[in-house]
Amino acid sequence: MEVSDESVFKTRLTKLLSTSKLVKSIYFFEHLDSTQDYANLLPHNDSLHGSLIIARSQKMGKGRIGRPWISPRGGLWMSIVLVPDFSIDTLLFTQFIGALAVAEAIKETTKITCRLKWPNDVLINGKKVCGILVDVNLETEKKRIIMGIGLNANVESSLINNSINVDSKATSLKEEYGNEIDLVHITNLVVHKIEYYYDNLLRPGKTMEILDRWKQESDMFGKRAIVYDGTQKFLGEVIDLDYNGSLIMRLDDSSIKKIIYYSNVSFF
Ligand code: BTN
Repeated sequence: MEVSDESVFKTRLTKLLSTSKLVKSIYFFEHLDSTQDYANLLPHNDSLHGSLIIARSQKMGKGRIGRPWISPRGGLWMSIVLVPDFSIDTLLFTQFIGALAVAEAIKETTKITCRLKWPNDVLINGKKVCGILVDVNLETEKKRIIMGIGLNANVESSLINNSINVDSKATSLKEEYGNEIDLVHITNLVVHKIEYYYDNLLRPGKTMEILDRWKQESDMFGKRAIVYDGTQKFLGEVIDLDYNGSLIMRLDDSSIKKIIYYSNVSFF
């Protein structure tokens, strides 16, 4: 009997993730509209925390600020559900965890050093290889954070760059590395690293380490940037991150502006 690529993927990943304390249920799909939407509809019960949804391809992948996310087969398209047990301040740090986990997993797998762009893009040579989407619902009955990770692993970046809706030039890991990536291996690494950082979020004092680590992996400080905040546009220099993860900029009129997560920033 021929064993499908699908079932090998599932079996290998399930085995590797059996050591995870965070991920207890894994939902695999060959095709899905969006792992993020699926995660949002999961019923609220004791096993919701740590649910992992993976699709080999998505028809209607969602990006930040309402953009579509092109998700052909070959990429890592996953969402992980967290039912947070910490304060709202700490909650904002979840946006950094995914990007750090992916950058470290890429480094370990390929030796490629990524740079992080606020709030949570992962870049290689200035091009976007991964985006993270964090959806937060704090209603008591539905309380959950859904961290969506879209990593262009073994995909053709031309497929993405030819789309009209991309916010920055895309690349893929396969193209940067020059070889196909073992998707199961890198997925397992990403999940274990999210687990490590999530544990840190629960420990007092450790959140600042996450912020510092994120700053080390970014090269945007001191650079000029434009921020699109709704209908407004701001120009200035990136100075630092606030204690809660907001971006601090010195605008061209010398005033200081804190930029929140849902704004869009372009560097130049
Ligand atoms: C961004 O715009 O940079 C964020 C992209 C996030 C894409 C991922 S792919 C898996 C998950 N499911 C979705 O529909 N979106 C996220």
